[in-house]
Amino acid sequence: MSEIIVFRYGHRDVRDYRVTSHCALVSRAFGATSIIICGNKDEKVTNTLKGVTKRWGGKFKVKFVKTWEKELANLKKKGFVLVHLTMYGEMIQNVDKKIGKNDKICIIIGSRKVESGIYEISDYNVSVTNQPHSEIAALSVCLDRIQNGNELKLEFSGAERKIIPKKQGKEVIPLK
Ligand SMILES: C[S@@+](CC[C@H](N)C(=O)[O-])C[C@H]1O[C@@H](n2cnc3c(N)ncnc32)[C@H](O)[C@@H]1O
Repeated sequence: MSEIIVFRYGHRDVRDYRVTSHCALVSRAFGATSIIICGNKDEKVTNTLKGVTKRWGGKFKVKFVKTWEKELANLKKKGFVLVHLTMYGEMIQNVDKKIGKNDKICIIIGSRKVESGIYEISDYNVSVTNQPHSEIAALSVCLDRIQNGNELKLEFSGAERKIIPKKQGKEVIPLK
């Protein structure tokens, strides 16, 4: 499977805590290895993800950066293909297979209005429908399509507990 990093552009602390946390949770659950959040450092997001990773496993990392220019240029140098999710981009159903063939992928999602430089530095500007909706939804669909659904079978190592899927009710077994 590809190494996938999610880059969250324009995080505003307090106001964006919940949505950014959900972007991070989706990134982790759907197979990304880390999220880079561009904006003020927000310990609440870091702590939420630390807690979830401790209980449910895996090695997900959260990193904060002040500006996007250097970070995205560095990722590009390291061989990451940059995929910016925007309702103005080309349709995901036409590029998902091609994007998914790359070993290293960075998915960029916005919050407030995204600067034109992000459109320019990106290798792909990709839409998940050409209707306005949410970065959480766009990220989920993109992660699923570029991994061809294989992220649904992921196992998370080192978990303290595991859910046994059931038709009804809840079953959680301790692993430690
Ligand atoms: C709530 S939207 C706000 C967009 C902002 N008002 C703008 O004009 O760029 C936040 C993010 O959700 C993602 N998004 C929303 N709708 C999308 C769509 N149809 N396709 C892909 N990404 C989308 C984009 O990453 C966008 O930056």
